[in-house]
Amino acid sequence: MQKLKLPKIIGHRGACGLAPENTISSLKKASSLNLSCVEVDVKISKDSVPILFHDESLERTTDGVGFCNQHNYLDLRKLDAGKWFDKKFANEKIPSLSECLDFLYEKKMNLNIEIKPNKKFELENVKNIVKLINKKPKLPNYYFTSFHIESLKLISEYLPNINRGLLIDNYISSMDDILIMCEKYRCFSIGLDFNIINSEIIKFLKKNKLIITAYTINNIKIAKELFDLGVDSIFTDRPDTIKI
Ligand code: G3P
Ligand code: MG
Repeated sequence: MQKLKLPKIIGHRGACGLAPENTISSLKKASSLNLSCVEVDVKISKDSVPILFHDESLERTTDGVGFCNQHNYLDLRKLDAGKWFDKKFANEKIPSLSECLDFLYEKKMNLNIEIKPNKKFELENVKNIVKLINKKPKLPNYYFTSFHIESLKLISEYLPNINRGLLIDNYISSMDDILIMCEKYRCFSIGLDFNIINSEIIKFLKKNKLIITAYTINNIKIAKELFDLGVDSIFTDRPDTIKI
């Protein structure tokens, strides 16, 4: 497997500081700002359609209630996923991963699919993402990430030749254990919450040949400091202000 070369700036949930996260408007924003790669969060609906969605439940980013995996896709489609962000985005829909792939393919953009945990539906999650990916025209480049070890394991079995990365938001495990996970599932990258990054960690990960990404950075000074430390790529909500 050839290691993917990541751009320095990756749009977070599209460009979610400028449009509602994980929507087609957010992808359009990222594209209009000439980003070559975006990250989106993916899980499945009750009827196993892979969708772009971050939270377990619908309340924060839609006018629906309950867990998103308790609703069929056509019902999720009826929700408003935009007006919580700004009324000018009213009637924005929860997109399917299929729509997202079509949009990015047309724009020749690359994608980081973050596989979200989907309690007890992890296998279904990964299987349905893989099924969709296999039947769609291929994006120039894409890769998978997850905080969730089981999802990472599954995707490494189903699509062994597609790059993948582990996400970490704290050090409950030691750096050595984290490295063992990366090696076990042949991860090319590790994505860290920028608050837990320091020069020692960067040195350790670089020595072990991992590409280092950091999330979520919306401040140019912090972005520059991270690049100076050796971070390879950053995720930002504000690709209009974070330009390197
Ligand atoms: O992949 C970076 C980032 O997306 C991970 O955290 O919660 O924004 O999905 P979250
Ligand atoms: Mg994410």
